[in-house]
Amino acid sequence: MNKTDTQIQEAPHVLIRDVEKHEGAIVLLKGWLYNKRSSKKLHFLQIRDGTGIIQAVVSRSDVGDELFALCETLGQEASLMVTGKVVSDPRSPVGFELQVTGVEILQNVEGYPITPKAHGDAFLMDHRHLWLRSRRQHTILRVRHSITKAIRDYFDENGFVLVDSPILTPAACEGTTTLFETDYFGETAYLTQSGQLYQEAAAMAFGRTYCFGPTFRAEKSKTRRHLNEFWMVEPEVAYMDLAGDMDLAEDFLCEVVARVLEKHHKDLTDILERDISSLERVKKPFPRVHYDEAISQLAVIREETEDPEMKSLLDIEWGSDFGSPHETELTRRYDRPVIVHRFPAQVKAFYMKKDPNSPRHAMAMDVLAPEGYGEIIGGGQREDDLETLEKAVEAHGLPRDAFEWFLDLRRFGTVPHAGFGLGIERTVAWICGLHHVRETIPFARTLDRLKP
Ligand code: 4AD
Ligand code: MG
Repeated sequence: MNKTDTQIQEAPHVLIRDVEKHEGAIVLLKGWLYNKRSSKKLHFLQIRDGTGIIQAVVSRSDVGDELFALCETLGQEASLMVTGKVVSDPRSPVGFELQVTGVEILQNVEGYPITPKAHGDAFLMDHRHLWLRSRRQHTILRVRHSITKAIRDYFDENGFVLVDSPILTPAACEGTTTLFETDYFGETAYLTQSGQLYQEAAAMAFGRTYCFGPTFRAEKSKTRRHLNEFWMVEPEVAYMDLAGDMDLAEDFLCEVVARVLEKHHKDLTDILERDISSLERVKKPFPRVHYDEAISQLAVIREETEDPEMKSLLDIEWGSDFGSPHETELTRRYDRPVIVHRFPAQVKAFYMKKDPNSPRHAMAMDVLAPEGYGEIIGGGQREDDLETLEKAVEAHGLPRDAFEWFLDLRRFGTVPHAGFGLGIERTVAWICGLHHVRETIPFARTLDRLKP
């Protein structure tokens, strides 16, 4: 066994994010080669291990000609174990570099497809399984992780019980046009569009609940906001009305954004180059705009618009749902997220409660994020009257027997209740300042993509 092997066995394995605790010591890093620069006497290896990237300096005079020559051959993403001394380096992003004493190559690599040069979107998405290793993508998914954690912490700390909704379901929740169908032992089952209906049952048992899981929409939309598989967190609260629901969404969003800003300030500003000033303004109160008021505002905005193409995009009549140009222009008038409430009942799902003062309006609300990100939350107060809900099931052409259990909730101790769903990918796109949601999920499922 040569000196190098002994060292690799003896030095303690340290994660790059923890090197600061080992200044002056010889440590072992286990990772991959991210990038390399060389001169006659030195190799500068950028080593990544998933927790960080550190520069490892290989000096010919320290390691000898043989190992130095071996390092010469290393290709991007070669897997390696490196021993060396941790020394302070103020220029390094992690504050330290490694003075290499030994290198063991697990696999050398030639021709790694994703090089530091620019690649097209389709190429990168085709190589998503490798692209995840790139600094930017890696950062986005770490921010996603923290958003997920902040969401869970919020609900866990506020008395909500996590109750997982099923993914295979016998019926539609959000309309019958976007259902993925599958065969369930000879019966038709659908991939869930939303866990909401089951949360309504759960809220009647636990008071405050949430689910957090993948949801599916067979939408043939090719926009930068649509995925066919996406993650949604859905709280549901018994004895809550629409006003309470809006307060909850506002408090929740402020808390999540604040926690993520605190944890990822540098990632957002330095790596993702996000201007975070608009995120810093995510503070209470969010404006609450009645749908009718929003329609009036849009008419004014349209009037003031000179570009004829934009003018026609902004054309909207009472009774229609907003498209993304409407959402973008509406939010431009405010300095923080906007809550639009009381949408026309005709564009909303069967379970929405109608406004008792104006039955053509549903007790629905959307939270719109600024800077063109649009709807990130959709929710509202649910219909709690048995007879009204029976009629709604029928009017929407839904199979009554698949909804009997849901109607039971209105037969046995019905109460006012409300909730909402927040789409994780749109939220990550907004917080990270990304153009397209496909970069916010590890493996995107879109109209034209089921691979990798
Ligand atoms: O507005 P949606 O359709 O609401 C519901 O599904 C309710 N049942 C939720 C509830 O009240 N429990 O979807 C909620 C959110 C949207 O605001 C958006 O953020 C996200 O889910 N979303 C999508 N994200 C990516 N791709 C899609 N195709 C999405 N459809 C909805
Ligand atoms: Mg919606």
